[in-house]
Amino acid sequence: MEYLCLKSRNSQVIEMISITYILLGLVLLSLHAVECKPKTTPLDTIEFPALNCRKHSAVLTDFGGVGDGKTSNTKAFASAIDKLSGLASDGGAMLIVPPGKWLTGSFNLTSHFTLYIHKDAVLLGSQDESEWPNLPVLPSYGRGRDAPGGRLSSLIFGTNLTDIVVTGGNGTIDGQGAYWWEKFHKKKLDATRPYLIEIMYSNQIQISNLTLINSPSWNVHPIYSSDVIIQGLTILAPVDSPNTDGINPDSCTNTRIEDCYIVSGDDCIAVKSGWDQYGIKVGMPTQQLVIRRLTCISPDSATIALGSEMSGGIQDVRIEDITAINTESGVRIKTAVGRGAFVRDIHVRRMVMKTMKYVFWMTGAYGSHPDPGYDPKALPEIKGINYRDIVAENVTYSARLDGINNDPFTGICISNVTITLTEKPKKLQWNCTDVEGVTSNVTPPACDLLSKKKADECPFPEDRLPIEDVKLKSCSIASSITLF
Ligand SMILES: *[C@@H]1O[C@H](CO)[C@@H](O)[C@H](O)[C@H]1NC(C)=O
Ligand SMILES: *[C@@H]1O[C@H](CO)[C@@H](O)[C@H](O)[C@H]1NC(C)=O
Ligand SMILES: *[C@@H]1O[C@H](CO)[C@@H](O)[C@H](O)[C@H]1NC(C)=O
Ligand SMILES: *[C@@H]1O[C@H](CO)[C@@H](O)[C@H](O)[C@H]1NC(C)=O
Ligand SMILES: *[C@@H]1O[C@H](CO)[C@@H](O)[C@H](O)[C@H]1NC(C)=O
Ligand SMILES: *[C@@H]1O[C@H](CO)[C@@H](O)[C@H](O)[C@H]1NC(C)=O
Ligand SMILES: *[C@@H]1O[C@H](CO)[C@@H](O)[C@H](O)[C@H]1NC(C)=O
Repeated sequence: MEYLCLKSRNSQVIEMISITYILLGLVLLSLHAVECKPKTTPLDTIEFPALNCRKHSAVLTDFGGVGDGKTSNTKAFASAIDKLSGLASDGGAMLIVPPGKWLTGSFNLTSHFTLYIHKDAVLLGSQDESEWPNLPVLPSYGRGRDAPGGRLSSLIFGTNLTDIVVTGGNGTIDGQGAYWWEKFHKKKLDATRPYLIEIMYSNQIQISNLTLINSPSWNVHPIYSSDVIIQGLTILAPVDSPNTDGINPDSCTNTRIEDCYIVSGDDCIAVKSGWDQYGIKVGMPTQQLVIRRLTCISPDSATIALGSEMSGGIQDVRIEDITAINTESGVRIKTAVGRGAFVRDIHVRRMVMKTMKYVFWMTGAYGSHPDPGYDPKALPEIKGINYRDIVAENVTYSARLDGINNDPFTGICISNVTITLTEKPKKLQWNCTDVEGVTSNVTPPACDLLSKKKADECPFPEDRLPIEDVKLKSCSIASSITLF
């Protein structure tokens, strides 16, 4: 608007000069300026926290974007980001998605870049499969999860990048997943379904303040990356939708996930690191992970799953202040013979749960192999799994802990846990096989394999992970951008 006023003022000046009433012209000009001002609604500067602020900004409509919910914006996103990538070494750039409904297929991010989705903007995932490039399978998985062939690129994809921010004032990304769920159920998929956001081989990543709904499959998948902050996400999918995991940190180092609310048809968070022989070969663990202030609703899955794909290893995970409602299990370990690697140094504290099938669940016989080529001698090491300060209500089974024969899960420590049961609880509340460890101050009392110890055990680490000390800067959308 400011721009439009400026333009009309100039044309007025030219008109004035041409009739040479310069004095009158100036009077008119100042009158015009006065007249113009009230028409320019002063822009409320939008402020938001980010890893880095950018020197340059542009709006999707500058690149031909049309927010009518029908026109494809795949090309507009591609040309905008292509153009803005040229500014990476000059202070970086931000692309603003303004209010409107923006239908799009997959597009790729660039380094030193912010994608800002306005609170009244909705990105709509295209259902035209030609708008989703086919990518090679992930090296640590060896195949696509839905089909042995390739996998479709995520709606928002980035690889080999540094310093990327995907954020918004709670703007929405709607994957329009029903199309893909139906294909999945009818076994008509010939490539793996796309995710909403996937970032590979990158560092300094922020994904925050967004609402993600109806993903075709997983929602957020950082993989082979480090220094990742995910915060303030609302993730919603029907509880019977297939594989709509919330956030899946996979072979990532130094990750912080906080203040998220997730309702989904699969695990709210699934911590992963590759699958059987493929994951063992790549050998990239997920480590230095903190998950805090999560609320999860997932009647058929875990609040936080560790695995089942954990063949690069999972270690040094801190989980705290978690609420689970009407969810199948809490922090669950899923593994199998053939996975190899380890899950170790896991610390969980302060969980509140209501209406749970299991409070504690560990599964050593998860099965699910990419192909018959896995090594039956590759046994996972599950060791040092700590839980404390947990209150759970309306529970069916307190614990089902199934280790692996000749490969017991060891160093399990559970303390200060109060579980109240449903009206019709199962008789065997703690069903334990092939596990070793200690418990204290736990009701109902634990199985004999977890021998009792004095109270107040299972310490939580007192040091901080490097990602916990990363502070976000306060950035704002320049008031010269006036398309709202
Ligand atoms: C994004 O980048 C990947 C890897 O470079 C490429 O295969 C894919 O085609 C790109 N996607 C789009 C939409 O251009
Ligand atoms: C991205 O990084 C990976 C791992 O470092 C490397 O193997 C791959 O070649 C890189 N890809 C591109 C397009 O630079
Ligand atoms: C974001 O939007 C979702 C969906 O409308 C809403 O449930 C949630 O409360 C909002 N979050 C914030 C922080 O405003
Ligand atoms: C983003 O979400 C965080 C919570 O993770 C909240 O503290 C902050 O106020 C939100 N910022 C904006 C701009 O919505
Ligand atoms: C036990 O857990 C409860 C609930 O989380 C907490 O309020 C209490 O402080 C804990 N007690 C000890 C001794 O840590
Ligand atoms: C308790 O859990 C059962 C399922 O085991 C559920 O049907 C019931 O609604 C729950 N009760 C309450 C009060 O949440
Ligand atoms: C206990 O767990 C074992 C091994 O996982 C299982 O076979 C058995 O059925 C369970 N028992 C009960 C009573 O749930």
